[in-house]
Amino acid sequence: MSFQDKKIVIYVTGGIAVYKAAELVRLFIKDGAQVIVAMTESATKFVTPLTFQILTKHDVYLDSFDEKDPEKINHIHLADWADLAIVVPATANTIGKLANGIADNLVTSALIATNVTRVVVPAMNEKMLYNPASQRNLQQLEKDGYHIIEPEEGFLAEGYSGKGRLPDIHSMFTQVAQIYAQATLPQVLKGKSILITAGGTREKLDPVRYLTNESSGKMGYALAKMASHLGAQVHLVSTKKELAVPIGVSPTYVADAKEMAQVVTDAFPEQDVVIMAAAVADFRFKEVHDKKIKKKDNEKEGLTLELERNPDILASLGKQKSVKQFLVGFAAETNDVKQYALKKLEKKKADLIIANDVSDQTIGFNSSDNEVTLYFKDGAIKHLEKADKETIAQEILQEIAKHLD
Ligand code: PMT
Repeated sequence: MSFQDKKIVIYVTGGIAVYKAAELVRLFIKDGAQVIVAMTESATKFVTPLTFQILTKHDVYLDSFDEKDPEKINHIHLADWADLAIVVPATANTIGKLANGIADNLVTSALIATNVTRVVVPAMNEKMLYNPASQRNLQQLEKDGYHIIEPEEGFLAEGYSGKGRLPDIHSMFTQVAQIYAQATLPQVLKGKSILITAGGTREKLDPVRYLTNESSGKMGYALAKMASHLGAQVHLVSTKKELAVPIGVSPTYVADAKEMAQVVTDAFPEQDVVIMAAAVADFRFKEVHDKKIKKKDNEKEGLTLELERNPDILASLGKQKSVKQFLVGFAAETNDVKQYALKKLEKKKADLIIANDVSDQTIGFNSSDNEVTLYFKDGAIKHLEKADKETIAQEILQEIAKHLD
């Protein structure tokens, strides 16, 4: 999901990690959010409010008593304006105040008046973090409904290693996205275990050559991310080690169709839903060479390589599945899309086939968008208009959820 048009208040409190909050603000703005920053007085000693004003194109809120507009009360206005509130970095002092209902500056007053999703990202020295009072206060904040992002281990400002560092900004951004999605999207897959495959399989010929296809893994990863956002426990079986694994998703990496078949078949009994978004090669080389194949002068006619069939994973799951399990396949077609999709639905004994027309270069393989039609076993058909793969993934999963009950 994206933060497009979301209103975010970032509350900055006084610690050396304030400079990272500036970068985080930029990430949210880049993603389409409107951001307003409020700072405690001690935060302004590390980075000036001007930095945040220039980044956000909004005044920075600093002082509870600096009420210039008689129409609004600043801290209540901030609390009411926000869709999401993030305290970053959160000092031991501000955490202690929030845990005890103390509202003695603009930041704490606004946060105590906020009832949208609130995320706290502590950053402090390890000894301060493990102080029993800090731990007690953090536990209290969790009980009060705040979401806490764990500080990281690493090199601290004091010159030694320990826990207490603010996580890297991209990690914070994705963790906040996961928290916000789970807090705001309907948790229609809560309690469900879902296995999703992603990427094209690589069928080896020799140590440097293989047979594969154009699948980038984007569709499978979008499904994994959105399934986790919708509350599912997600197992991703992927051929794409280079892609970032969505938060909350556990990956298993495979190379070829045989390995994918093994992993998926072993995990299948535990799954409520399996979605085969991977482009699995139908054939592999009959002979796999352990040394690089060299061309020979007498091979003027060319070289003939023999292929043999790979296991059809989806069809084999279709034979094994129980009535409670929901099996989903994709159909990547270039022509007669509906006819082939319906044929696959029947032949592979799936509950749903998602057809995409891969003759269109702007959707399907290796693009950021997709447009699909869902063919359900019960005869229902649903077309999803062209959109980015995360939007398509969310719509697919919400349709699946309706069929699970
Ligand atoms: O990865 P991206 O770049 O984002 O592209 C997404 C996608 C186009 C790969 C995806 O949307 C898609 O269509 N995936 C399925 C591609 C494919 O292999 O389609 P198929 O029509 O050949 O296979 C039908 C179904 O059987 C698929 O669910 C496939 O995973 C499964 N299959 C196929 C062969 C095989 N041996 N075993 C299988 O389980």
